[in-house]
Amino acid sequence: MSSAKGYVAPDYLSVIANLFNQIKERSYTLMHILPGHQVLDLGCGPGTDTIRLASIVGGEGMVIGADHDASMVAAAEQRAEQAGVKAIVSHLCVEATALPFETDYFDSCRSERLFQHLEDPGQVLAEMVRVTKPNGWVVVVDTDWGSLSTDSDETDIERRLTRFLTEGFLNNGYSGRKLNRLFKQQNLLDVAYEVFPVAISHYAFSREVTQADRVEQLALEAGVISHEELQRWHRSLEQADKNGAYFCSVNIVLLVGRKQ
Ligand SMILES: C[S@@+](CC[C@H](N)C(=O)[O-])C[C@H]1O[C@@H](n2cnc3c(N)ncnc32)[C@H](O)[C@@H]1O
Repeated sequence: MSSAKGYVAPDYLSVIANLFNQIKERSYTLMHILPGHQVLDLGCGPGTDTIRLASIVGGEGMVIGADHDASMVAAAEQRAEQAGVKAIVSHLCVEATALPFETDYFDSCRSERLFQHLEDPGQVLAEMVRVTKPNGWVVVVDTDWGSLSTDSDETDIERRLTRFLTEGFLNNGYSGRKLNRLFKQQNLLDVAYEVFPVAISHYAFSREVTQADRVEQLALEAGVISHEELQRWHRSLEQADKNGAYFCSVNIVLLVGRKQ
């Protein structure tokens, strides 16, 4: 799995989970979960959300986390064990385009930052809708990487790197801005969106969040930037960091809709 386009490791996801706490909590609210509900977290990663969802559905409920990466599923299972929620939380190795669940099975479904990795996001959303019960809520959260913006006087290099991250590094890097269209195509009811700007003023942390080392290396190999340009880019960001003035921001988009 580690060579897949845009691959992320369990440790990386744990580091950035705190940045998304407010968005995560909002997504749980919009799932309209009641005690005893059965819910799905698709693209669950290392189980950050499934463990939190367990406390919302309660002892009579059930949470399923699904991810196609066996190392994520193993990390999530271990965390669920440590959190003492194994009785109501299971994590399965599953490909999102063909979910092994019956139609109308879950009370609600969510997915966070999965769609940016997908080659066929429409098919995956259709699967999420299929496995949700009528009147159940579907919530998808994703990044619009095209909105990533980093303050630097090297704006040309900055634009090229952002575009490469969005179009060359990820399968569906504009995912966030496309979700409204995808939801409308599924004929969901009460479709609504919310946009959350995320800003980072810590240079080293932002490099982790944007996977800058890998993106820059691949951009060099693809001829998107030269070595000299990369050095200039680094110098400008390091100077901003030294001055305590580093800043970047990106939009996270949340879509919610109800199955007919
Ligand atoms: C950026 S991570 C987000 C994880 C988690 N939702 C979170 O918020 O921490 C994306 C996850 O989607 C999973 N994923 C990517 N493509 C997938 C697919 N086609 N089917 C199932 N899972 C997939 C990855 O393995 C990864 O765990």
